[in-house]
Order: sequence, then C-alpha cells, then structure tokens
Amino acid sequence: MARRYDDWDELDSRSSKKRNRAKREKHKGLTQDEIDDLDYEFKEETAFIENLENRSGKYDWMKEKKYKTMFRDIESKLQGVMGAGPFEWVDRRVFDQVFDRLTLLSLYKLMKTGVVDTLDHPIAQGKEAHVFHGTDINGKAVAVKIFHTSNAVFKNLLQYIEGDPRFGGLKRRHRDIVDIWVRKEYRNLLRLHKWGLNVPEPLAVNKNVLVMDFIGNEISHARRLRDSEIPNPKAVYEELVEFLAVAWQKGSMVHGDFSPYNILWWGDRPVVIDVGQAVVDSHPKAQEFLVRDVTRLVQWAQKMGVECDVTETLLDVLEMDLSHLSID
Ligand SMILES: Nc1ncnc2c1ncn2[C@@H]1O[C@H](COP(=O)(O)OP(=O)(O)O)[C@@H](O)[C@H]1O
Ligand SMILES: [Mg+2]
Repeated sequence: MARRYDDWDELDSRSSKKRNRAKREKHKGLTQDEIDDLDYEFKEETAFIENLENRSGKYDWMKEKKYKTMFRDIESKLQGVMGAGPFEWVDRRVFDQVFDRLTLLSLYKLMKTGVVDTLDHPIAQGKEAHVFHGTDINGKAVAVKIFHTSNAVFKNLLQYIEGDPRFGGLKRRHRDIVDIWVRKEYRNLLRLHKWGLNVPEPLAVNKNVLVMDFIGNEISHARRLRDSEIPNPKAVYEELVEFLAVAWQKGSMVHGDFSPYNILWWGDRPVVIDVGQAVVDSHPKAQEFLVRDVTRLVQWAQKMGVECDVTETLLDVLEMDLSHLSID
C-alpha cells in the first residue's frame, strides 16, 4: 500500500490548468523561434521522464501523477544530475544511483524552502554519499550531500550504530537508520560550528539530504588536505590539534575519522568535514577514537616533516588551556 505523506496536498496543488496558464504567460511576447525552443526543451524533458518510466519498473512511482508533477516542477533545476544542458559531461548513471522516490521528495521540499534552488554537478562520490554543487535561492553556492539508501550503506552504518545506547532496542527500517545518521552529521556540524571551529556551516537537513556551506569558489571546490600543497605544515598541525582540543574539551565530541581525506584545504586553512560518525565523549569508544584521531594527525604531520609525537599531542588535546573560549 502506498504510504501517505503530509505534503501530498502540496504536491498536487499545482493543477494542470494553472500550469498551462503559466505556460501561456511564459510564451507572451516571445518570437516563434523562442517558442519553438521552449517546446523543444519541454519535449526533451518529457523524454527524460518517459525514459525513466520505461526502465525495468525502478521508476514506476514516477507514473503517479503527484510525482510526475513534482518532478516537472523541479527538473529544470536538476540539469546537473541528469547530465543535461551545460552539464552534459555528467554521467547519467548518477541519477540512477542517487535518486529514488523519497530522495526526490526531500529535494523537492528543500527547493520549496529555497535553501536549495539548483542542484548542479557532482563534486564527489563516496561509499555512502554523493556530494553535489548546488545554489540557494540567492545564487549562493551550497554543498548538497545525498546519502545512498541501499542495503550496503545500511550495513556499513550499522557497525557504528550497534553498541550505541541511543539506538538500542529499536528495530528500524534501513531507511530510518540512514536518516538518523544524516541528522547526526547535521547536529555534529552545528555543534562544532558553534564553537567557532572551521567546518562547513550546516544549513538544512531533510531525510537523507544534507545541505551545508560549499567550500570552494566559482571555479573549483576545495581539495583534500592529502592532495594539496601545504606551505606551512607546522601551523596546520597546530590548528588541527586545537581543533581536536576544542571539539573534545568544549564540544565533548570526537571526530572519529580524522584523516587527511576528511579535511579540506581552502583559503590557506584546513576545513574539517565528514562528521557523521563523530561521537559524544560518553560513548564507550570515545577515548579509543580520540587516540586514533590524534595518531592519524601525528602520522600526517610527521610525513610533512613536523616534529611531534602521539603522547605529547594527546596531552595537548586533553589539557590545552581553552578558558578564553565560551559560547552563550
Ligand atoms: N561542504 C563541502 N564543500 C565542498 N566540497 C565538499 C563539501 N563536503 C564534501 N565535499 C567533497 O565531497 C567529498 C566527500 O565528502 P565526505 O563528507 O567526506 O563524504 P563521504 O562520507 O562519502 O566520505 C569530499 O572529499 C569533498 O571533496
Ligand atoms: Mg569522507
């Protein structure tokens, strides 16, 4: 049986009459050539939907009127993920990998609020998520991290969730677990950001879609620390030690996957990302994770020629005087 969603009314609210009127309005004052162009575009879009519908039942839900209407409503903003227009270079399989019914619905809601206006090209594809460049309603760049909801992802997340008392005893559906994970990443980012740490500011979350500040500019996105030339590794090491110290002492948190793969390099500073797995200090493995994070940092720094060792760095993280920091 189809599940009910409280926003279905909203999805249906744009009747075809209204749409046709809008179309006529849109055509006012245009030359015949321009109208032909628009019609051509519309046909192309329709072909995209029909093509999806024909694919082995996976997109059967698209046949439902409400989804079709919703998709038509936002698809011009999704050119990047469909490999259309200026984004022809984007692999069309991305759409298949990322967009199921509920993901599209989440995106639709985020687009209605304006926190996302367009979803452009993919920046990166990880095991668990695709990250896209997007823009908000004011044209400002945003990063949109869309988690996959497949079984494999679920199994991977389960490792971290098992043993965490907050998830105990709950027999949840795969999808719910992924959603919880994404909200956790959002909350973790928020907490770190509140303490003034250099992480992307989280802007919104809806189910498996997380929207945050885009780290980069119009031309390129930030590269990872491991792929970047670092002019002054000692200063970067020190900043990252302080990051761990503030997160631990003030935010009561451990990153848990603090590696040069999860630190970006932008504006001559490290920006820490990927905090979904971060845990609070009362988590049974918090201390083990902290030691591991410090060890990884020290390994990176030593490779860059910085003199340091794990014990001293750990002491620093635990005891650094941070009394000047406060949030109220
Ligand atoms: N806010 C952001 N701004 C720019 N690029 C980002 C942002 N967040 C993630 N990325 C890019 O996406 C990649 C994967 O993001 P990450 O959060 O590490 O996901 P995963 O869980 O798949 O490892 C990063 O290495 C980076 O290139
Ligand atoms: Mg990562």
